[in-house]
Amino acid sequence: MDRRRFVTTLAAGLGMAAFPTLTSARKTARPLTLLILGGTGFLGPHTVEYALSRGHEITLFNRGKTNLGLFPELETIIGDRDPDMNRGLEGLMGRQWDAVIDNSGYVPRMVSASARLLAGNVRQYLFVSTICQYDNWMEGEPLGTEGRPRAVLADPATEDVSQHYCALKAYCERAVDDAVGPRATHVRPGLIVGPLDRSDRYTYWPVRMARGGEVLAPGHPQDRTQYIDVRDLAQFLVHCAERGLTGPYNAVSMPRPWGEFLETTRDAVNPEAKLTWVPADFLAEHDVQAWRDVHLWADRDSPAAGSLSWSSQKAMKAGLTIRPAAETARDTLAWFETLSPDRQSELRAGMGADKESAVLTAWHRQTGEP
Ligand SMILES: NC(=O)c1ccc[n+]([C@@H]2O[C@H](COP(=O)([O-])OP(=O)(O)OC[C@H]3O[C@@H](n4cnc5c(N)ncnc54)[C@H](OP(=O)(O)O)[C@@H]3O)[C@@H](O)[C@H]2O)c1
Repeated sequence: MDRRRFVTTLAAGLGMAAFPTLTSARKTARPLTLLILGGTGFLGPHTVEYALSRGHEITLFNRGKTNLGLFPELETIIGDRDPDMNRGLEGLMGRQWDAVIDNSGYVPRMVSASARLLAGNVRQYLFVSTICQYDNWMEGEPLGTEGRPRAVLADPATEDVSQHYCALKAYCERAVDDAVGPRATHVRPGLIVGPLDRSDRYTYWPVRMARGGEVLAPGHPQDRTQYIDVRDLAQFLVHCAERGLTGPYNAVSMPRPWGEFLETTRDAVNPEAKLTWVPADFLAEHDVQAWRDVHLWADRDSPAAGSLSWSSQKAMKAGLTIRPAAETARDTLAWFETLSPDRQSELRAGMGADKESAVLTAWHRQTGEP
């Protein structure tokens, strides 16, 4: 998708006021030069749009494969995070920026290569990490803070991102620290949601509510959830660069009641939809699992509850703002409805309609309620 279409689609789907692009955000007094490693997938485009609206000058670095032509007016340095690949990091040599935002670091060897190369040429290195880089991240005490230890790998030389995504992010953070020391910022998002998200993990909920009828609401209304709207995250990254904020920051909403989240999402897109609460033990008996069939939810008595109960107080004090859940729901649905009918026909995450219906039927049979 080219940038004109990207912006037009978002503007049409969201209303310009909902997308802080060119018109709504105020320009900063001190424009920065920013390098974004990546920039054309999901978080990247939102970061670019917000940074441009603040008056910053952006350079992108990527392979030129994802959404080629999205930002034709920006300088894009074509290369590869892997220094052993064709062209590698060559294009970054001898250049200077105020800050780099590293969106695409997954392998410590590659992150180390870019951080070392850029150490003398940027004032600040912002690494987009993840909340799951903590040791035992699912099982920690509720409201865990940035002081919790990072994950450790039995084999720190592994580059198997599909198996060790979370712990490898911890080693990527260490690689940035080794290269730039106190000039590192580690932003640790929880589940990132909103327009352009290809995963549908969150998108399932507004889309399912919009479809209407009886909606299976898993667990209990007092279970907890948390996530971050991609636009709030993009703004926080740029804010950290503008203020020179360094150190680690959890970047999520504070944990909020699951029932309130589902009701707000429903009311934002289709108040007619009817929620039927089905308890966690019944779901387990019917092979419905958190993080596989249902996203953003975990039974509050299960170990996985820790994955959705981190504290973001530090980031909020530093300037992270969280938009209303209803706005995220409406904007995500509006964006989803701009996609091709094929893409809309089958969600990539969440319970399929047949499974949802079978579990609801079994639940009604057991409870005797219609
Ligand atoms: N999604 C979530 O819920 C979630 C949660 C927590 C943290 N995170 C983190 O958030 C970040 C956001 O990712 P995003 O995909 O939205 O970022 P993005 O910057 O929008 O897109 C990824 C970019 O990386 C570039 N890229 C990929 N492989 C590359 C390579 N080998 N060399 C150079 N460039 C490369 C891609 O372009 P080319 O393909 O053209 O190279 C693309 O521009 C990630 O670090 C992820 O770990 C995500």
